[in-house]
Amino acid sequence: MNASLTNKTALVTGATSGIGYQAALDLARAGAFVIGTGRDTARCQHARDAIREAVPNARVEFLCADFSSLQQVRDLAERVDRLLATENGRLDLLINNAGLYSSAKKITEDGIEMTFAVNHLAHFLLTHLLLPVLGRAPDGRVLTVSSNSHYQVFFLQSRPQNPRIYIGIWAYAVSKLSNVLFTAEFNRRVNVDNMHAWAIDPGLVNTEIGGKDGGFLSRLVWRSRQKMGTHAEVPSRTILHLASTPREEISSVLYWMNSNPKAPSRLSRDAGLARDLWELSCRLCRIEEYFPEN
Ligand SMILES: NC(=O)c1ccc[n+]([C@@H]2O[C@H](COP(=O)([O-])OP(=O)(O)OC[C@H]3O[C@@H](n4cnc5c(N)ncnc54)[C@H](OP(=O)(O)O)[C@@H]3O)[C@@H](O)[C@H]2O)c1
Repeated sequence: MNASLTNKTALVTGATSGIGYQAALDLARAGAFVIGTGRDTARCQHARDAIREAVPNARVEFLCADFSSLQQVRDLAERVDRLLATENGRLDLLINNAGLYSSAKKITEDGIEMTFAVNHLAHFLLTHLLLPVLGRAPDGRVLTVSSNSHYQVFFLQSRPQNPRIYIGIWAYAVSKLSNVLFTAEFNRRVNVDNMHAWAIDPGLVNTEIGGKDGGFLSRLVWRSRQKMGTHAEVPSRTILHLASTPREEISSVLYWMNSNPKAPSRLSRDAGLARDLWELSCRLCRIEEYFPEN
């Protein structure tokens, strides 16, 4: 058991399958109290039961919320608050992992393109709403699962929340670039001693992410690609590495792959772009002040 994770509290979004499920399992095995999230009640129950079966003394709960709805993200944050109150009232680790790929343009109930809404905006809002409980932890950590697809974006259009021309792989890459920009800007703005954020590149992982899309062609392409992917244990190890390594050893590095530092794209290091995306995200989530104490 990893001593530094015993009695830590962790929230893992998208923990019903793939990388999130594996990370929730590994964190529970390491002794953390884990709250997993998923969009489907039955899948949440199934994941919770599977973790409890694999780790008999696991302390794990699941909460259901569809990240395509900002209201459901707000409700989720309130339920997380209440659940944490039964523990020590603080959140040590927030793992922003839930994600999807969509070959067709879909607009959420909030009027936002689905990929951007789920992969970026929901986590932007969730992190904001959980800042009070993260702030109660002596060493609150925010880990966001990005992707090497972020390197493909060579410019960020002015309306990523509702692009006129929609191409699935571009929208996905933009959402994953947004994860890195968010992480960098979080560290610039939430400049306090007890909170820090990192972005993770999981590499190609053999999960069902591409198989869940409605598009026949994208499912076909993913079926052949996923076989070349690693097991979800590989990115989960990076998550646990960043969750447990002393802060001073890792805080200077933004982007990680296979537990090693990696240079993110040039665009992701553009502070002006990160600021613009941050301000747009605040407007879309109707956030007046992201981090009031700052
Ligand atoms: N697999 C790869 O090669 C790869 C590479 C780079 C980055 N990533 C990133 O890794 C993260 C995890 O992906 P994965 O590969 O593990 O895929 P996955 O197995 O499909 O897991 C995605 C998780 O997100 C949940 N989710 C999807 N849409 C949601 C929504 N609208 N509301 C709430 N939860 C939702 C899924 O719920 P359900 O179980 O109900 O579907 C699942 O729990 C994603 O952010 C992805 O972009 C993956």
